[in-house]
Amino acid sequence: MTHVDPYFRKLTGNYLFSEISRQVAQFQAAYPEKRLIRLGIGDVTRPLPAAVVEAMTAAAAEQGTPAGFHGYGPEQGYPFLREAIALHDYQDRGIHVDPDEIFVSDGAKSDCGGIGDLFAAGNTVALCDPVYSVYLDTNVMAGRAGEFDPATGRWSGFLYLPCTAENGFVPAPPAEQADLIYLCFPANPTGASAGRAQLQAWVDYANDYNSVILFDGAYEAFVTTPGVPRSIFELPGARTCAIEFRSFSKTAGFTGTRCAYTVIPRELEREGVSLHRLWARRQATKTNGVCYVVQRGAQAVYTPAGRAQVAENLAYYRRNALTLRAGLTQTGLTVYGGVDSPYLWVKTPKDQTSQSFFRLLLEEAGVVTTPGSGFGPHGEGYIRLTSFGKAGETQEAAERIAALL
Ligand code: MLT
Repeated sequence: MTHVDPYFRKLTGNYLFSEISRQVAQFQAAYPEKRLIRLGIGDVTRPLPAAVVEAMTAAAAEQGTPAGFHGYGPEQGYPFLREAIALHDYQDRGIHVDPDEIFVSDGAKSDCGGIGDLFAAGNTVALCDPVYSVYLDTNVMAGRAGEFDPATGRWSGFLYLPCTAENGFVPAPPAEQADLIYLCFPANPTGASAGRAQLQAWVDYANDYNSVILFDGAYEAFVTTPGVPRSIFELPGARTCAIEFRSFSKTAGFTGTRCAYTVIPRELEREGVSLHRLWARRQATKTNGVCYVVQRGAQAVYTPAGRAQVAENLAYYRRNALTLRAGLTQTGLTVYGGVDSPYLWVKTPKDQTSQSFFRLLLEEAGVVTTPGSGFGPHGEGYIRLTSFGKAGETQEAAERIAALL
C-alpha cells in the first residue's frame, strides 16, 4: 500500500495561476470571438535582448564541436556567470557578495520553493498577507502550515503579517518569534517597496531572534526611488540572517528561458550548521544545474550591449505601469504600486469582491487580471495587474476599463 504525503494532500485547490488560466480558458472557449488582453500572470512580452540571443547562438554552436562541447556543468553554476553576477549586481554597487556565494538555478520560484528543504518542519513561518502563493503552498507541503480554516482563509501554523493600505503594504516585525520569514520587496503582489529603515528592522529582528529571512528580490530592477534598497545585503547585519533570490525572468525576459540565482552568505549558519554548505549539498543532490547555453545567455546580460537592451525593456514596462496607473486613477480607481514595481494593486470599486471584479473585467472588458483574494485574505477587495503586457494592449486595457466603469 502506497501512502500519499499527508501534508501535500492538504492543498486542495489549484495553484493560483493555474486556476486563473482555467477560468480564462473556459471563458475564451465560450466566447472565442472576444480578444482578451492578458495582464494576469506576470509573464514578460518583450523578446530576449539581442546580446543574449547572440551569446546563446554562439554557445549552441560551441556545443556542436568536439573542442567546445560541455557536458554536466558545475551544479552551482559556471564561474563565468557567478563572477559576472557578483561583480555587476553586488560589488559594483558596494555590496559584499562573493562569486562562490551565488547559486545559479532555473528559477527564483524553484529556489523559493526548494529552500524549505534546509529547515525543520517545526519552524514557525511568517508570511505577508497577501503573498506570492509559492511561499505558502510549499510550506503547506512541508508540514509547517497546521490546519486550514475556511472561515478565515488562514492556516493555523503560519504567522501572518497583514499588508494593508494603512501600513503601506509593508509589515513591521511581529512581537512573537518567527523562524523563517519570507519577504518580497518590491512586493508581489502589492507592488509596494520597502524603505531602508523598514528592512533594517527586519534584519535586526532576524539577528535577535535567530531567524532566517528568505528575501525574494525578483523585482529589484524596477526600483527607481532613490534610497530604496535593491538587495537585502545592502543592510548591515543581513549576511548573518538572510538568503536572497534573484531572477533574469523579469529583467532580461527569461520566463521561458529559465535562469536565476540565490545568494547565501558563507557566514550564515544556524545551530552551528552552514546554510551555504547545506544548500550546496541539496543542489548537488537534486539538480544538475542550468544548461551551458542559457548560462552564456545570462552572462551576456552584463555586457555593455546587454545592459543597454535590458534597460530598454525595463523602461518599456515602466511606461506600461505609468499608463495603467494614470488611466485607472483617472477612472476613479484607487491604485497602489506600479512605481518601483511592475505590479499595480487596485482597490475594487463599490466594495466588490476581488473575484466579482475580476469576472467583470474579464467578461465585460476582456481584460485578464488576478483577483487579490487569491494571494491571501488581506488581498480581498483588490485585483492585481501587471505592466508586462504589450504597450498598445496595455493602453487599450486602461481604455476598456475606463469605458466600463
Ligand atoms: C506572478 O505573476 O506572480 C509571477 O509571474 C509568478 C512567478 O514569477 O512565478
